Amino acid sequence: MLLERRRQVCHGTRKRDKMGESAKDRRQDPAGVLSRRGAITANYEDFLTQYLTCASANPYHPVTNPEGIINLGTAVNRLMEEELSERLRRGDALSYSPSYQHYYDFDGTRELKGALIGFLGRHFLPAKDIGEDEIVVLNGVTSCLDALSHALCDPGDVIITPTPVYARMFTDVHDRAGAAVLPLVLRQEADSSDESFVLRAEDLEARVEALHQEGRRVRAFMLVHPNNPLGDVYSPQLLSDLMDVCARHEIHFISDEIYALSIFTDEDEPSSRPPFRSVLSLPHPDPDRTHVLWGLSKDFGLAGLRVGVVVSRCAELMTCLRAIAIYKCTPQLVHHAAAALLSDTASIPIPSLRPSSLLSLVRRLYLRLNSERLGRTYRHARGRLEAMGARVREARAALFVWFSIRDFMETDSAEEEMEIHAQLMRAGVYVVPGSKLYGSDPGWIRLIFSVREEELDEGLRRIESVLKSRRKETA
Ligand SMILES: Cc1ncc(COP(=O)(O)O)c(C=O)c1O
Repeated sequence: MLLERRRQVCHGTRKRDKMGESAKDRRQDPAGVLSRRGAITANYEDFLTQYLTCASANPYHPVTNPEGIINLGTAVNRLMEEELSERLRRGDALSYSPSYQHYYDFDGTRELKGALIGFLGRHFLPAKDIGEDEIVVLNGVTSCLDALSHALCDPGDVIITPTPVYARMFTDVHDRAGAAVLPLVLRQEADSSDESFVLRAEDLEARVEALHQEGRRVRAFMLVHPNNPLGDVYSPQLLSDLMDVCARHEIHFISDEIYALSIFTDEDEPSSRPPFRSVLSLPHPDPDRTHVLWGLSKDFGLAGLRVGVVVSRCAELMTCLRAIAIYKCTPQLVHHAAAALLSDTASIPIPSLRPSSLLSLVRRLYLRLNSERLGRTYRHARGRLEAMGARVREARAALFVWFSIRDFMETDSAEEEMEIHAQLMRAGVYVVPGSKLYGSDPGWIRLIFSVREEELDEGLRRIESVLKSRRKETA
């Protein structure tokens, strides 16, 4: 049964509605075993999770499974895998202690909270020192989103987010808490132009007011910054303007900053554009309704450790999240490893570099090396896609190339976009179609470039063969 379902998903034969859910079975449990809530969770069909499962069932390997699927759809960062493994294998990080056999501070050990306060202080430059009771650690940012929705929203309440967006967010805040994410649609003005997909504070205000007029209770605005899938970094002025809108309407401002430190750098061409600024570093017009999320899954490529953090000055919210932590805690052993890593990122040795050279002293910094690799790999993937004739929208951060395939389409329809996705799956490469990220203009794709070099190149070769075949068809 499960295998059949997986087969249907992988080959795109399962009937789904527009949002990737087969609407009918959402509320059904034919055997009547589950609660209504349980049936909703059991039947949630989340595109990103489905295709992760599908790609993981038949993973590409150059020797043992060359026909397997190359996953360029799931947001992982493998560019620093070797250095991280080396660091975590050292005895001070993943060592065992009998104290791990017992209960502990589920919302974050003092050791981890101390390390986080130091790390966030150095890299997020908070305008006010972060207190221990202003941090809660849960098992991943996914879990933080579920917990925040539980804590802040009643069923039917609205969370607004700019789209296209990381689609799982819709599931995370709705599945158990019942909040509805409604889009603030960012429009495509012209292919690949920076004028496309622009976020404006006045558009947020208009959306909030329109929803209020419809009688909806808007509880929060959620921003992914740097953005997934666009790779945009927002200016401090825009962030302040968005916070002001939220403060005026008494709605929570949630800033998901899981890609905060994955900003591309280019050694040859240092960026003249303003750097990333965390919401933590700016004045908060409504501190009780301003919350920041971060975790180890992206900037450190450690999604398997399940570490997510909520930082907020709202005492009531933090009391609630500390109580929730008993259901959603990360093991103490991981708290200890994460604390060792976060306190010591400056000295992760990079074996491939000569320790004596001056350059290597600078490059020894983990985050700097990560940023350089992200920038270099992004430019490589972008160059290859542009050479194929795809139009790429410029990104400054995160793990994505967001590109348009309109020139390979006959119609501007989401159906054709899904056809191309199915064709790519048959060719053995998984990327995410823009419509599955709630993009309103069909013909965009999100590709993850931060994978092993060999897989990226083979994946791009497979994409090229599909696009070439379509060029002929459309010609
Ligand atoms: C914007 C955003 N938030 C949250 C997550 C989930 O992170 P975690 O692994 O910490 O649950 C992702 C993963 O892709 C993401 O892109």
